[in-house]
Amino acid sequence: MENKNDFQYPHTFILLGASGDLARKKIYPTIWYLYRDNLLPKHTKFIGYARTKQTLSEVKEKCKKYLKVRPGDEEKLDEFWAANEYFAGSYDKRIDYEMLNQLINKFEKGPVANRIFYLAVPPTVFQDVTVNIRNACVSIKGFTRVIIEKPFGSDDVSSDALSNHLAGLFKEEQIYRIDHYLGKEMVQNLMTIRFANQIFKPSWNRENIASVLISFKEPFGTEGRGGYFDDFGIIRDVMQNHLLQILSLVAMEKPVTLNPNDIRDEKVKVLRHINPIELSDILVGQYVGNPEGKGDEKLGYLEDPTVPKDSVTPTYALAALNINNARWQGVPFILRCGKALNERKAEVRIQYKDVPGDIFDGHAKRNELVIRVQPGEALYLKLMSKSPGMKFDLVETELDLTYSMRYGEADVPDAYERLILDVFTGTQMHFVRNDELKEAWRIFTPVLKELEGKHIKPVPYVYGSRGPPQADDKLAEYNFKYSGSYKWKKPTLS
Ligand code: BG6
Repeated sequence: MENKNDFQYPHTFILLGASGDLARKKIYPTIWYLYRDNLLPKHTKFIGYARTKQTLSEVKEKCKKYLKVRPGDEEKLDEFWAANEYFAGSYDKRIDYEMLNQLINKFEKGPVANRIFYLAVPPTVFQDVTVNIRNACVSIKGFTRVIIEKPFGSDDVSSDALSNHLAGLFKEEQIYRIDHYLGKEMVQNLMTIRFANQIFKPSWNRENIASVLISFKEPFGTEGRGGYFDDFGIIRDVMQNHLLQILSLVAMEKPVTLNPNDIRDEKVKVLRHINPIELSDILVGQYVGNPEGKGDEKLGYLEDPTVPKDSVTPTYALAALNINNARWQGVPFILRCGKALNERKAEVRIQYKDVPGDIFDGHAKRNELVIRVQPGEALYLKLMSKSPGMKFDLVETELDLTYSMRYGEADVPDAYERLILDVFTGTQMHFVRNDELKEAWRIFTPVLKELEGKHIKPVPYVYGSRGPPQADDKLAEYNFKYSGSYKWKKPTLS
């Protein structure tokens, strides 16, 4: 039996939705970087497929400004485009997929050949596309893998329908559900930090940890993307997927092995201990313009011409989840995300309890272990120390592992690069399994229904601010102490 994973065989990467935004801005650049760095199988052919009638040169032209080309890479870039094809076809007609199949066949010399389909298509054509791939394009002499992007449905019912549809066409091992946060360096590092360091093990629990805050902040609004965003809102766009995935890696028990299914078994298990979020445990916000701001900052969400004037879609949300197991019972896991805020930041903040039996007159602040996902990957532990010198005062300081300082120019690859390469090698560790998705929707659907059914108005917050002022009270309610007395500064070389 031949090893079909072997990189010596021909592979075809078919990008459906090749004329769209995602393809142009993210997928073409990603496959180019993988190609440039010789990470892909030598005989890889790339085929763009979409409804737009256009030539490969036109695709190339549209991608140009998104592809980074270093001096000296020009020849390699020509080689990359020479390995590309573009094929215009409909999403719903089988005949077009049969023609696509013929085109793929042309490049599949030898006994083994593998195919990867990337679905960068709108959810409305998703079902047609997958049925047609199954009927006309599966590889008969190698593997066929399908990469899909969110939205995976918009609630439990629609997501189940989609999962059942896919399960009728492909095996779970063939389906790669991308959550690109799982491709980020520090998210991948969570398992190592937790399970390769004895020092954290004894304290990773309800006896020592007061609360866990997982945040996502963006300094820009929905500018131009409001039409798409308004149907989903920040809870579906970021919280139910990216932040919940991070939560499961922070909270899960140690997997039996590093086997992808062992890891995902643990992720699902911890999600199963979480009850659906209650309305009283969520705060939703929507940004309003800042009259003193610059450019887009002046405009609120409702002033985006693609957004309905009476929209109650949240652009900010803060929710507390409780994990009802022996390790975490009573420790709030706070998920917080928002657009049009004061900064770009994604991080996990594990806040330890107050030191019992205080002898420092209340001056000892809580320890925090912070995993900075972006920008500027870092891991730092906030702790108290004696102020250096004659005094006996306390100072807040940190043990700091800032990647740019420690690893110099270390090249941290983009999330999509890692994840697409994983599909070539058949590694599902960093992809979302069907049952994880089901649990995620179980946790979020009731509250989404309630927010939408009752037409609950989000609280306003100003573009460029830290978010709704009410959020600080909410954090305090969930046992997260924000002292404001200390701000981590990214270290620089002196
Ligand atoms: C996407 C969301 O999944 O993640 C976007 O749909 C968001 O709204 C983006 O801007 C953030 O990704 P990153 O990698 O820039 O943090």
